[in-house]
Amino acid sequence: KRDFLNISDLTKEEVLEVIKYAGKLKKDRFSDQSLKGKSIGLIFMKPSTRTRLSFEVGVYQMGGQPLYITGSSTQLSRGEDIKDTGRVMSRYLDGIVIRTYSHSETEQLAKYFDGPVINALTDYLHPCQILADLQTIYERFGTLKGIKIAYIGDGNNVANTWLIAGGLMGLNVNVATPEGYEPSGKAVYEAVNLCKNSGGKILLTNDPVEAVKDTDVIYTDVWVSMGQEGEKEKKEHFRGFTVDRELLRHASKKAIVMHCLPAHKGEEITEELFEQFSDVIFEQAENRLHAQKALMSLLFK
Ligand code: CP
Repeated sequence: KRDFLNISDLTKEEVLEVIKYAGKLKKDRFSDQSLKGKSIGLIFMKPSTRTRLSFEVGVYQMGGQPLYITGSSTQLSRGEDIKDTGRVMSRYLDGIVIRTYSHSETEQLAKYFDGPVINALTDYLHPCQILADLQTIYERFGTLKGIKIAYIGDGNNVANTWLIAGGLMGLNVNVATPEGYEPSGKAVYEAVNLCKNSGGKILLTNDPVEAVKDTDVIYTDVWVSMGQEGEKEKKEHFRGFTVDRELLRHASKKAIVMHCLPAHKGEEITEELFEQFSDVIFEQAENRLHAQKALMSLLFK
């Protein structure tokens, strides 16, 4: 069985295959029926709009049965362990999409569940998001070759995944965070190792202007992730990290601005830039559907 817990669970060639196939599915949404007769559990321990809807609709369009399961509606919330949950679910389900607070919990589930497990966001990674973003960039620029990306904001699960994706795909990925909010050392380590083979380059900085210089894509995300809502003072540390017109001036002339949503306008991005690039941003959201369907087609072969 094949899981998708990290973007690097696919090869570079498979990522390219998935994003190209996603483009085909975008034109003919019911053309792939590879989930016919399959039941896919969608376990969400945290709220979601895009990920839940895109998987639920995607499984349906591919002929499968999506089963949306909240954390609180299962015995997981009453202490049944993930090992037994995985073994029981193997008896009913063909695949699982899971959003948890803890990456190790998702890894545990993948160990004990017999079918493919797809990571729909953990505290460490958000690979489905980056797959759709790579599709969006490919559609906009016609290639991923030589693309330079600047991620501005919190060194969170999206930033970690961007670094690994950069290493895998041979991209230039610059990440600018405030001091103390750098990406995970584990993600940086994996990205650096992947870069040795791919020719990718990564840069970590505390200076947004340095990160953005001559890049094709400026990417940002929420400053306060789900589960960190108590950290009110955190936003104070992010002054100067708002993606605005002045920052965009330092990027390439044809640069686009991306945001994986939900957006907090006036914090990580100005309302003005959000609206200027809303066609790209909502395309990213739509591409979650197509990229995840293409991914499922590969994993459930
Ligand atoms: N970008 C993203 O994962 O959105 P949701 O949290 O709404 O799924």
